[in-house]
Amino acid sequence: MSDRLRLGVMVSGSGTNLQSIIDACEAGRTGACVAVVTSNRASAFGLERARKHGIPTVHIPVGQTGSPEWEAADARQVEVLQAHGVQLVCLAGYMRKIGPRLLDAFPGAIMNIHPALLPAFPGVEVQWTAADYGVRIAGCTVHFADEEFDRGPIIIQAAVPVMPGDTGDELAHRILQQEHRIYPQAIKWFAEGRLSISGRQVLVKEAPPPLIDGTAIISPGLDP
Ligand code: GAR
Repeated sequence: MSDRLRLGVMVSGSGTNLQSIIDACEAGRTGACVAVVTSNRASAFGLERARKHGIPTVHIPVGQTGSPEWEAADARQVEVLQAHGVQLVCLAGYMRKIGPRLLDAFPGAIMNIHPALLPAFPGVEVQWTAADYGVRIAGCTVHFADEEFDRGPIIIQAAVPVMPGDTGDELAHRILQQEHRIYPQAIKWFAEGRLSISGRQVLVKEAPPPLIDGTAIISPGLDP
């Protein structure tokens, strides 16, 4: 078996973040490989993307949060991820609350990506909320997951400007482009053992200085 870190990616929808992770893994840019992709939605296009790359997929229906079906899905999720030897779980547009069994089974080893500069705008479809709110700077965050939505310790963030007249769709697109840069980077740091958590702080060993280019400010910066 290869010594690459084995990822389990959980998606609910289109899966462009999943695609960026797969592409980065296949290009040898993360030190990881995607071992399995699961989704609460059988029709999620992310599952199709995974299949195209020969990655096993599993549909795990999830009932209402807190219901017996949801608890069963929590247990099933752990079973599937462990059966595929997963070492890091990546929530990539996974729109359901994860359960205590999953959190216990992968302590400090579940990441999430969120399309806002947390702690501002937790929740869903927040790019449209941010545009409506009139913020001038928006962005995205990769963080370790905990039992609350969009709350755990922050690994990396990218900030983008909001342009006059931006629609939610335009802003969401601008943010998504940065999501595809920072998620593979966070995974690479994890794979290289460069992340440690102390309370709310995440220490990134040999973190590159913040990167400022024509599209974003990213902190910490990206590895060369
Ligand atoms: C992404 O923007 C991701 O940050 C967001 O869902 C989108 C999924 O897109 N996640 C959340 O809002 C989590 N709270 P994708 O399926 O194309 O990767």
